[in-house]
Amino acid sequence: MAVNVIMGDITRVKADAIVNAANTSLLGGGGVDGAIHRAAGPELLAACRPLGGCRTGEAKITPGFKLPARYVIHTPGPIWRGGDRGEAQLLDNSYRNSLRLADENGCETVAFPSISTGVYGYPLEQAAAVAMNAVTCGLRECRSVRDVTFVCFDARTEAAYRRALARLGPAE
Ligand code: APR
Repeated sequence: MAVNVIMGDITRVKADAIVNAANTSLLGGGGVDGAIHRAAGPELLAACRPLGGCRTGEAKITPGFKLPARYVIHTPGPIWRGGDRGEAQLLDNSYRNSLRLADENGCETVAFPSISTGVYGYPLEQAAAVAMNAVTCGLRECRSVRDVTFVCFDARTEAAYRRALARLGPAE
């Protein structure tokens, strides 16, 4: 069981599954969502259309098509609205449901972006803490997932996730 933090572009990561910070339509967008759709090719949107969208905090899986990853797991994280609208629980749900779906599909390695901390405005330090806790707890229930990597797109995000990982202590 390993949790790692790297800086990079998630569309180039060769994990069994990469997670997409999607929106509830699952019809693409900007940010990492746009990057994943561009790299996967038009078949990804074609595979998303029949899924009928996805509720915030839930997750749906498609093939990765032209991506190095076998699967894409799409999860809409919460839009930050000040913190008293259940955002932390919804973000926690996004990580745990994505991990469970990867596990159910026999994935051994999973890569996450920093969900909700871009367009959706979730404060980075708080999001990193929720993410790290959700993933380390969720990993304990996994049968096939053994390695999770947070793929951070910039140094500030990487530093926040490294701090969150360090706070977990050596046991994790
Ligand atoms: N690889 C890894 N991380 C990336 C990449 C990439 N190629 N591109 C962007 N990111 C990072 C951003 O820098 C940010 O740290 O992903 C994180 C999440 O930011 P967003 O992509 O804006 O996602 P989010 O805040 O969850 O907002 C989701 O934005 O793109 C739309 O359709 C999407 O409506 C949805 C909303």
